[in-house]
Amino acid sequence: MKILIIGANGYIGTRCLEAWDDAVAAEGHVNTKEDVLSLIDKHQPDVMLNAAGVRGKPNVDWCEDHQMETIVGNTLLPIIIAEACQERGVYLLHIGSGCIFYGDSHHVDKKWREDDFGNPVPVYSRAKWAADLVLSTLPQTAIARIRMPIDWMPSAQNMIDKLATYPKVIDVENSVTIVDDMIDVFYQLMEKRATGIFHVTNPGTLKHKEIVTLYEQYVDPSHTNEWISNDDLVKQGLATKGRSNNFLSSEKLKELGIEMREVHEAMEATMKKYAELKKQGVQSAEGPSC
Ligand SMILES: NC(=O)c1ccc[n+]([C@@H]2O[C@H](COP(=O)([O-])OP(=O)(O)OC[C@H]3O[C@@H](n4cnc5c(N)ncnc54)[C@H](OP(=O)(O)O)[C@@H]3O)[C@@H](O)[C@H]2O)c1
Repeated sequence: MKILIIGANGYIGTRCLEAWDDAVAAEGHVNTKEDVLSLIDKHQPDVMLNAAGVRGKPNVDWCEDHQMETIVGNTLLPIIIAEACQERGVYLLHIGSGCIFYGDSHHVDKKWREDDFGNPVPVYSRAKWAADLVLSTLPQTAIARIRMPIDWMPSAQNMIDKLATYPKVIDVENSVTIVDDMIDVFYQLMEKRATGIFHVTNPGTLKHKEIVTLYEQYVDPSHTNEWISNDDLVKQGLATKGRSNNFLSSEKLKELGIEMREVHEAMEATMKKYAELKKQGVQSAEGPSC
């Protein structure tokens, strides 16, 4: 299965490119359908992964003041890529975000289902949701929503690095994505040519406090931070817009027989691996955080 990755220089794109022997990186920036068609004609992929997007630098608040760049990168670009893929009969896996849901769902278990409608306010989340709304109607297309990627590889985009460096951390609980499991699930979705929306989050939910406790246990016992409420994030001027916190259900993956590890098991294994790399002196790669 030859995989062509658009956005292969980004955080998620790079992790996928390095993990898959049968993946190649699309060169340059894509601005038009013709750009994508020529990439397809050159590389002749069986499937395409869209790992490109605009998340804001230094963080997602940037998107609030750069609406057009955010909309072009997260709504228009996926549509352009999808149009070219439809024209050439190439399967597309587009990376979506679980951050289109704010708070609890209307379901008894509070979890958001894949087909629930999003309720985002920030520009970034709205732009991601808009792409989901239209791409989810297409054949040969799937959307894999991820949340708060957690990785053993130190990186500015890794949730572990973010929580370890913030002096004030919000005390919240969420569905999250362990990157090793995500890479494996993306591959299986492409192999199966699955269609529709998938929540690529590990079963169970994780508190920021649990991540920090593991960090202090395995990486840095001298680490300290202040705990604040989610509302304090905006009240104290630490963010322009409140962040999404939610629980996602991953029923659609289960229906396909695709499993991810229970989140606490996967989290501890990831933190141990992360600690080993830190001991070897591996530093976080520079990059934007969201
Ligand atoms: N990381 C997260 O926390 C997170 C959470 C949920 C969902 N996601 C989604 O996952 C996807 C990947 O995110 P990421 O964390 O890997 O972001 P990233 O590190 O910022 O990478 C995004 C990549 O997309 C590229 N790109 C932007 N516009 C492009 C265009 N027109 N043509 C080709 N490439 C383009 C960027 O290249 P340049 O830098 O050269 O512009 C960059 O290499 C995005 O769709 C994001 O919304 C990420």
